[in-house]
Amino acid sequence: MHDILPEEVGRWQFLEAATREWFSRYGFREIRTPLLEASELFARSVGASSDIVRKEMYTFEQGKESISLRPENTAPVVRAFIEHSRHREVAAGYPERLYYIGPMFRYERPQKGRQRQFHQIGVEVLGGEEPLIEAETIDMVWGLLKRLGIEAIELQLGSVGDAACRPAYREALTAWLRPRVAGMCEDCRRRAEENPLRVFDCKVEECIRLLADAPLMEASLCAACSEHFVAVKQHLDVLGVPHVEDVRLVRGLDYYRRTVFEITAEGLGAQNAILGGGRYDGLVEELGGPALPGFGFAMGMERAALLIPDERLPPSSTDVSLIALGEDGHRAAVGLARRLREEGISVQMSTLDRPLGAQLKRADRVASRYALFVGKDELESGRYGLKDLRSGEQEDIDEAGLIARLRT
Ligand code: HAM
Repeated sequence: MHDILPEEVGRWQFLEAATREWFSRYGFREIRTPLLEASELFARSVGASSDIVRKEMYTFEQGKESISLRPENTAPVVRAFIEHSRHREVAAGYPERLYYIGPMFRYERPQKGRQRQFHQIGVEVLGGEEPLIEAETIDMVWGLLKRLGIEAIELQLGSVGDAACRPAYREALTAWLRPRVAGMCEDCRRRAEENPLRVFDCKVEECIRLLADAPLMEASLCAACSEHFVAVKQHLDVLGVPHVEDVRLVRGLDYYRRTVFEITAEGLGAQNAILGGGRYDGLVEELGGPALPGFGFAMGMERAALLIPDERLPPSSTDVSLIALGEDGHRAAVGLARRLREEGISVQMSTLDRPLGAQLKRADRVASRYALFVGKDELESGRYGLKDLRSGEQEDIDEAGLIARLRT
């Protein structure tokens, strides 16, 4: 878990502001749900046999309840959607479009690009099954990454089938695994029993080698899933979003149906997924709501923040360093500083009567555009010395002139 210090926070604020602005253009609205949820919510959605639920949740008992820090936010958003009967707002062609920004918690092995408290920007589209939902939402985040200056990215797309075709595939895969599983790692032996599709998630070399010949979901997709997948790709082509098919794309969560995707980025090392998501038709119903389809993704903010090029970030600076000289100057300067701040100008000044040199040094450190000198003479004449710290030019100016100058 990391502290995000003031020097880094500008990057985060920039990312958040760009996201809010861009997503709102697509009709997405923000939702904020609690950090804590009933543990059972995640077992029923992310999956009791998933790594996340089996070993990565921060879970504790309070009273008679088992509660967990959210490891992800799709299930909480769906819970809230159901709890507040928001399906009433949904009409054909007009799904509910939600986004969230906030921390998630997973007790994972820490490594580069992987934290135990990390942050996600996520979106959920509830109540639309048409393939355009996927294409438009992916196009939106593709556009966001471009706007942030994150260029070297790749979209991988796959389909994991649905309730009509996945059971048969699962059986075929189980049958294929049976004579081979003895040669696989302990985790895969368990996966083969509990949730065979998970074996593709394995990082052990021997297992990866063996699985190269395994049957693939793609060949078992039913006609409806196949058609849906083709339509998603066609829409993406129309929108000009380049994509590659990844027939082995497995996601670490059980709720996915049909489309799954990830966007990977160069420059992140082994943990190169900047975001991932997919369709989760069936989840709303599974969690006690009406039979409404869903689709969404979440982006790792640490990873995104790291990739924003420095030149995209707005410079952090102060408009004015107020240099107060002598006790009288200092006393008068406090009032002047407040009047300037009320006019929308950022002002920093020492809370103590410090030597001129120390005050100028600080002005440099906070990247002030101007230094404003307030001493006994200036107070008497009502005219202040304003120095442009970029050009070095200095002028004498009264308060009205000062405000007019600084506001431009
Ligand atoms: P996820 O693939 O588990 O999906 O996480 C999404 C993204 O969060 C990852 O691609 C990665 O960038 C970031 N991430 C995940 N774990 C960590 C970690 N330990 N440290 C740093 N970053 C991490 C979900 O969470 C789904 N809820 C996404 C979704 C929304 N699917 C449908 N709707």
